[in-house]
Amino acid sequence: MAALELPPRVDLARRPTPLHYLARASERWGQGHRLWVKRDDLSGCLLSGNKVRKLEFIVAHALAEGCDTLITCGGVQSNHCRATAFAGAQSGLSVHLLLRGEEPAASEGNFLLDQLAGATINCYPKRQYVSELPDLFVHWQEHYARLGRKALAIPTGGSDGLGAWGYIAACEELKADLASADIDSAHLVTATGSGGTQAGLTLGASLYGLPLTVWGVNVCDDEQYFLDKVAADSADWRSRFPAVPPVSPEVRVLDGYVGEGYGVAGPEVFALIAELAALEGLLLDPVYTGKAFQGMLAELAAGRFRDCRDIIFLHTGGVFGVFPQAQNFKLAGASVRG
Ligand SMILES: Cc1ncc(COP(=O)(O)O)c(C=O)c1O
Repeated sequence: MAALELPPRVDLARRPTPLHYLARASERWGQGHRLWVKRDDLSGCLLSGNKVRKLEFIVAHALAEGCDTLITCGGVQSNHCRATAFAGAQSGLSVHLLLRGEEPAASEGNFLLDQLAGATINCYPKRQYVSELPDLFVHWQEHYARLGRKALAIPTGGSDGLGAWGYIAACEELKADLASADIDSAHLVTATGSGGTQAGLTLGASLYGLPLTVWGVNVCDDEQYFLDKVAADSADWRSRFPAVPPVSPEVRVLDGYVGEGYGVAGPEVFALIAELAALEGLLLDPVYTGKAFQGMLAELAAGRFRDCRDIIFLHTGGVFGVFPQAQNFKLAGASVRG
């Protein structure tokens, strides 16, 4: 394929992120497969994780459109909102966050970081958030317009046809990773929450002709929801960038690992996070990556990946989500020897 022309982007992420081989995890769970991790948790400290790749394109678009403010939305502990708050602060843009749920009594995790980054925050009760979100965006955009300002509305997770470029572009990086690690073909597993990472990877792997089978482990909703969401983001991408080459890749979802619901993980996920941290020094979170890694291991054990020796887990970040759920880890505690 001729080099793909990317839209403008600002430089916010530490790229390329490393691809690491997990020797001990491969021995422990691999059953003959080689397990790898693409360390997008190292894409930055405060801008860590998958969101920054999308925000590089979204912020560039906001600046090109003459916006001075970014408005976006998510849960009270949203990684996307925290990343947007810091991307805005780093780019000289104001950020306004519309958060789902009552204002927490204590400022911790991402909610604390949002405030430190100077974001304006409104918390809405869940029912109001769910039923009125589009109106809330319009309300605040009009509010800024009345002040002579211009605000860009960024959808949940930065997932749309513009944000999709983040992981389309990451596929160029993955192409080099595969070559340097001598990987002929692999399964690539990511957590999927608002679908944009999966949409970008699925489109990008096809556009760059990568020998990757992309899987999203859904951490909310179900398979059908993500089939539709990735299709919608892909259609939005095509309509906003009509010159892109034609591709219609297959979307693959590994359903069955949501547990009790979004943000609620069972004891097995907390145990797995602790085990992997001690085994490999790799930290997952209970909302996204812990569930996705658990799903990947369960599917591996069931033979899903038997046609390929290599399996790559995309570490999409989320470390700040660990701390508000610290009480769910069963820790041995410190031992003091005399
Ligand atoms: C740490 C982490 N991993 C994965 C995801 C899922 O990415 P996406 O929203 O693009 O599906 C998110 C956000 O939703 C996230 O914060």
